[in-house]
Amino acid sequence: MARVAVRSPLAARRVWDDPSMGAPMFAFRFEPGDRAAVQAVAQATSAGIDVDTELGHPWSLFWVARSGPGEPVVAFLVAWAVADELHLIHIATEPSSRRRGAARALMTALLEHAGDHRARLVLLEVRRSNRAAIRLYRNFGFTAMGVRRGYYSDGEDAIEMMLTLDPTTGHVTPGRDEVQLAEA
Ligand SMILES: CC(C)(COP(=O)(O)OP(=O)(O)OC[C@H]1O[C@@H](n2cnc3c(N)ncnc32)[C@H](O)[C@@H]1OP(=O)(O)O)[C@@H](O)C(=O)NCCC(=O)NCCS
Repeated sequence: MARVAVRSPLAARRVWDDPSMGAPMFAFRFEPGDRAAVQAVAQATSAGIDVDTELGHPWSLFWVARSGPGEPVVAFLVAWAVADELHLIHIATEPSSRRRGAARALMTALLEHAGDHRARLVLLEVRRSNRAAIRLYRNFGFTAMGVRRGYYSDGEDAIEMMLTLDPTTGHVTPGRDEVQLAEA
């Protein structure tokens, strides 16, 4: 099956729209019937978020990933819309469904939303050791902007990552790292 490296929201949109690319996973906006499945994925991935609390926020955006309409939910993404910024709160894929493009589909949906709603920034925090997630974000053009020392309860640092968009076009504005990361 053809795989394409997604480096920008525009590239992502092409993969998303082109069925010949054989995208193995698709993002769908959360629906109430997805709640139990999202909770199961959150539990299986030790997500550390309260799904019901997140669903209750009017500023929360929720997507789920599945291999097609009616198929089981294998991943979810929650983000907050704050003024002209989107904050990625969490993204997780059920362990047996990883490396099949679920997170890529969810990030694509988030960045399409950012472009459609004239967002200026997409922000997130990630554990310094989380190379899978850092590589995922890198593929979409995120840069490492700062470190929050001992941010997590076990004392691990958080890396602050950011994607800047031109709100008039929705295109990614190239940035550069302010923090050196050890990436595989
Ligand atoms: C990070 C995570 C969401 C990725 O989900 P996924 O559905 O497996 O990711 P995808 O299949 O869409 O991968 C997209 C790209 O991300 C990168 N990536 C994903 N998993 C990776 C891994 N284990 N190692 C290296 N790169 C990885 C790759 O570039 C991959 O593209 P490729 O498969 O063409 O090489 C998943 O590993 C997860 O749920 N981890 C636990 C929760 C978590 O850490 N969330 C992030 C919180 S900030």
